[in-house]
Amino acid sequence: MTQSVQAVRGMNDILPDEAQRWLRFEDAVRDWLRAYGYRNIRMPLVEPTALFKRGIGEATDIVEKEMYSFVDALNGEHLSLRPEGTASCVRAAIQHNLLYAGPQRLWYAGPMFRHERPQKGRYRQFHQVGVEALGFPGPDVDAEHLLMCARLWDDLGLDGIALQINSLGSLEERLRHREALVSFLQERRDALDADAQRRIATNPLRVLDSKVPATQAALADAPKLLDYLGDTSRAHFEAVQQVLRDEAVPYTINPRLVRGLDYYNLTVYEWVTERLGAQGTVCGGGRYDPLIELIGGKPAPACGFALGVERLVALMAETEVNVEALEERPDVYLVHQGERADRFAFTVAERLRDHGFSVVHHAGGGSFKAQMRRADASGASVAVIVGDDEASTHSASFKPLREAGDQQRHPLEALPAALADLLYGEAAAADE
Ligand code: HAM
Repeated sequence: MTQSVQAVRGMNDILPDEAQRWLRFEDAVRDWLRAYGYRNIRMPLVEPTALFKRGIGEATDIVEKEMYSFVDALNGEHLSLRPEGTASCVRAAIQHNLLYAGPQRLWYAGPMFRHERPQKGRYRQFHQVGVEALGFPGPDVDAEHLLMCARLWDDLGLDGIALQINSLGSLEERLRHREALVSFLQERRDALDADAQRRIATNPLRVLDSKVPATQAALADAPKLLDYLGDTSRAHFEAVQQVLRDEAVPYTINPRLVRGLDYYNLTVYEWVTERLGAQGTVCGGGRYDPLIELIGGKPAPACGFALGVERLVALMAETEVNVEALEERPDVYLVHQGERADRFAFTVAERLRDHGFSVVHHAGGGSFKAQMRRADASGASVAVIVGDDEASTHSASFKPLREAGDQQRHPLEALPAALADLLYGEAAAADE
């Protein structure tokens, strides 16, 4: 036998049982985005590598070592699979002059690619839902985004997701802080791990984010960026927090929170759960006022965030949210046997779908008994049964599968109403 082909490491299939949860997540996300007036935008999965180098920053992990980059063999272009969506979204907005019409509230969803070491919650192909507000100076939009996230956790029935926020101030403030930080780090160079030592020169702020315990310990008294903020940055940060307090969204200020992409300024944040092990950040974002200009657009402020879909879906599974509602059971499993019945079954199925019922049409023949077993396993509420008898009288029978009830036969015209009565009768009565 030939050896079977396997998926690329860190790139997952999402099988039907799991996909039900994804669909529920996606449904909730769409309603939520509509509730805040965000509009969908779709960008290519492949972009010029220069976009990410410029946008995300040359000295970030993503650009240094995690991008799937290649040279197009046909024309020599340097291309990369997108490792995130913000740079692409901003590129698209600039290219198509979207900001000409005023500020834009946008969202996108889809796979992103990073060549990281795969583990639970960290994959090489993963999915994000990204939300970007372009052209808003804030801090009201920063606050809107945080309230949005809090509402989504609620909509999904998730709790225990803690908000950490920080302010990265302005470029000038960061440069002043950087000077102090670099001399602090140089004095303690020997206590730092090799990666942190290297970063002193390239990206000292990222050293603060180190996960190495010895390095963390050496950083206890490191100069805090928050102490270097001027009045304007402070006021911005305070205004964001005021809305959080007004809306009773709990948060903690984490002065070490710096994010892994270089485009941020002012507000940055992450939503973190302890329920998923080491990869507990389910959402990250913040303000990125420098990015639009950096990618070649007319300077304009912006902010946004991205949800990690795998992690949120895992959290839904972990908390066993609405497991019942998650399982998309069909209303009807249609069993049929006999030459005329097999043809008439299509008519029955299509008429039922006309009336909004979901119908799984049995395929592949077999005895009524075998088909009824399939009907039962499908989770459908009702088996609709068509034999040659029914076909010759233009009728169909049905039998409830999840509760007691006799088999009944109805003319096809009366079937949808009879089924609705069976499936929603009590609910409909209760609604009245
Ligand atoms: P990020 O923090 O790199 O930000 O990613 C956002 C979220 O994507 C993370 O919090 C995490 O849940 C998920 N994620 C990241 N990498 C992986 C991975 N390898 N496997 C599974 N999930 C992952 C950004 O990408 C920014 N573009 C967010 C943003 C939008 N900032 C402003 N606007």
